[in-house]
Amino acid sequence: ANIAIIMGGYSSEYHISILSGQNVYKHLDRTRYIPYRVIISTEKWVCLDDQDREYAVDRSDFSVLLNGERIAFQCVFNAVHGTPGEDGLMQAYFELLNIPQTSCDYYQAALTFNKRDLLSVLKPYGIKSAVSYYLNSGDPIHEDKILEKVGLPCFVKANRAGSSFGITKVKKAEDLRMGIEHAFKEDDQIIIESFLDGTEVSVGVITYRGETRVLPITEIVSENDFFDYEAKYQGKSQEITPARISSEERSRVEEVARLAYDVLHMKGYSRSEFILIDGIPHMLEMNTTPGLTEQSILPQQAKAAGITLTELFSSAVEEALK
Ligand code: DAL
Ligand code: MG
Repeated sequence: ANIAIIMGGYSSEYHISILSGQNVYKHLDRTRYIPYRVIISTEKWVCLDDQDREYAVDRSDFSVLLNGERIAFQCVFNAVHGTPGEDGLMQAYFELLNIPQTSCDYYQAALTFNKRDLLSVLKPYGIKSAVSYYLNSGDPIHEDKILEKVGLPCFVKANRAGSSFGITKVKKAEDLRMGIEHAFKEDDQIIIESFLDGTEVSVGVITYRGETRVLPITEIVSENDFFDYEAKYQGKSQEITPARISSEERSRVEEVARLAYDVLHMKGYSRSEFILIDGIPHMLEMNTTPGLTEQSILPQQAKAAGITLTELFSSAVEEALK
């Protein structure tokens, strides 16, 4: 089967996504699949040949004329972080074209990519999160009301973004305004959350060989103020798998991560972030196209579970083609 590995995207996460996609291309099982790299950018959608030459993708059916041969894809491996790969747009497009793809469906993607909506949907199921305040661009900004609700320090976040783009930890009231302006550069919706003081853990839940599987949990110890871009990608953090938490804490967080996956009727990959406070998991967010580079958390977790990258990536295609 011809597999299009889509990577890139329209957001600040473009470069991270290219690294994820290239790693999938490197490891996907070539005895079973023929992988192609498709770069999605605001300027163009192009398929690369093995010499990195670019061929325009026909957006009416997602096929490509490559070296004189028309290639149709039987499956899409989604490695696009952020819009349009993680927020449901590409998912909806492939659903309309009837091309199976490895990530969750368009609605789950749109819902989970929206931090406010994700957390409010999960709340009635007992899944806790920070106290938060939500703003659309153009809304009046009542700093006193915001701080009264969330306290200090607090986090200002773009409501729909990844890799910590647009996030500020605000420690002093006079810095709130700047944090808000910074977040509005990434998205026209922002969320301001109370600071959760506890242990940060990252939990991968995937469908693997027909079963929902919770991968070994990763503990995140950031050298910076929080798990920001530099901490994530420039080594300013330690990612410890398995996390150094008690077995009760582990079962609790596994249970909550699995509950979220099931309640949302997810498929494909997911990696959710939690802060454990006195053993109680508080959810920050869920990523449905998590980083897939050699160093990324989900691949590290898979390796800790004894799953090779070839098995991890190939099983996603297998599931999508079922
Ligand atoms: N958004 C980044 C790629 C992640 O969740 O791994
Ligand atoms: Mg994220």
